[in-house]
Amino acid sequence: MTIQALKGFKDILPDEVGTWQWLESMARNVFHRFGFEEIKVPILEKTELFARSIGESTDIVEKEMYTLIDRNGESITMRPEGTANVLRAFIEHGLHVRKPLQKLYTIGPMFRHENPQKGRLRQFHQLSVEVLGTNNPMVDAELMAMAWVLLQEFGLSASLEVNSLGCPQCRPQYKEALVSFLKGNKNDLCEDCRRRTLTNPLRVLDCKKEKCRARYQEAPSILDYLCPSCKEHFQATEKGLQTLSIPYTINSFMVRGLDYYSRTTFELITDTLGAQSAVGAGGRYDGLIEQLGGPSLPGIGFAMGMERLVLMLSQQKKDPFHQEIDLFVAVLGNTAQETGFILIHAIRRKGLRAVMDFEGRSLKSQMKQANRHNARYTLILGQDEIDKKEGVLRNMATKEQLPVSLAGDIGSWCDAVISITKTQ
Ligand code: HAM
Repeated sequence: MTIQALKGFKDILPDEVGTWQWLESMARNVFHRFGFEEIKVPILEKTELFARSIGESTDIVEKEMYTLIDRNGESITMRPEGTANVLRAFIEHGLHVRKPLQKLYTIGPMFRHENPQKGRLRQFHQLSVEVLGTNNPMVDAELMAMAWVLLQEFGLSASLEVNSLGCPQCRPQYKEALVSFLKGNKNDLCEDCRRRTLTNPLRVLDCKKEKCRARYQEAPSILDYLCPSCKEHFQATEKGLQTLSIPYTINSFMVRGLDYYSRTTFELITDTLGAQSAVGAGGRYDGLIEQLGGPSLPGIGFAMGMERLVLMLSQQKKDPFHQEIDLFVAVLGNTAQETGFILIHAIRRKGLRAVMDFEGRSLKSQMKQANRHNARYTLILGQDEIDKKEGVLRNMATKEQLPVSLAGDIGSWCDAVISITKTQ
């Protein structure tokens, strides 16, 4: 019996890899323009890191983490998201001492034991960014503007929904009002929401059940409970978005699946992905760095799900990323194969992407291979061409066949091939 990949774990095959590489390089380009630097952090961390940051009573920590006991008896977890371990590294290396404002990004796989469906996997990849060391609302607006620019440059669109979750001063009053509303309506709520009323009441607002959702239309709004400084921060964030002409809507019922947020939260929502409508999400987490044993510094960040971006791109049937090679060398006969072997090595060293056939196939079958590799050119090399000191270079798009000089040494053959492929 063959062995298959685990449920919710997906291979990214060569045909798709071009899209992934394109997304990553576009993202890096945007991040660098906005002053971000890359940080690479481990996939495995102490379980406690996630329990203390994401929150003990969240779905992620309660039931979705890949946790194992390692050979030393320590509980370790495969990161379910990127923020906690970037913060752990930030604190451990005292990065704030070197530079008071840290703008960091990381790209890589995350792991959550969720029910796989379209756009939801157990191993998925995030483009994840954090700004550490400022609570200026202009930065909140700038970060959302960057998310918006990123989508624009991918050629995608999603709507930006914004909310404020208040701070430890004002949120308890809201929680109290919400719990009293939930208790008053408990007969209309699903079992999960009834349980969450006691464990994590804000999370009920994220319930997907129609009946609960209808009830929550009348629930108190957190925006009516913000303390003066949170209110001011939210107004300034909105002003920043308006100044930069970033379109957004306020969704005062947006709560996040992670407990560390305070004040600004946001989601990028699309209607093209079915139930998994968030292509990106994030928010402010003032207090979290201190909670993890670090300095008292505020922070804000967001992450985009790469599988969801790839799905959106594939729906648009955009394919600017198919991989191509510059040259396929079709060889006919043993001498040509040996010559091709030396030539292709020299050509690759000069910077061209080149592939050749080693199986002695017919010319027709080698031309088919050249097409499968998306070759821009094919060099046809047989005994005749070597004797005549003139090969044939076929432009695979126009089908034009150009003579190419094979006089002199391999270095001059290379130059002759390269000069045609570069000019055409
Ligand atoms: P999150 O909302 O849990 O936030 O995830 C961010 C994005 O990752 C989602 O909007 C979605 O696109 C993608 N995503 C999440 N789970 C899955 C999954 N199972 N399969 C596919 N894609 C998924 C965070 O992770 C926070 N760390 C974001 C953040 C950074 N907040 C502040 N800084």
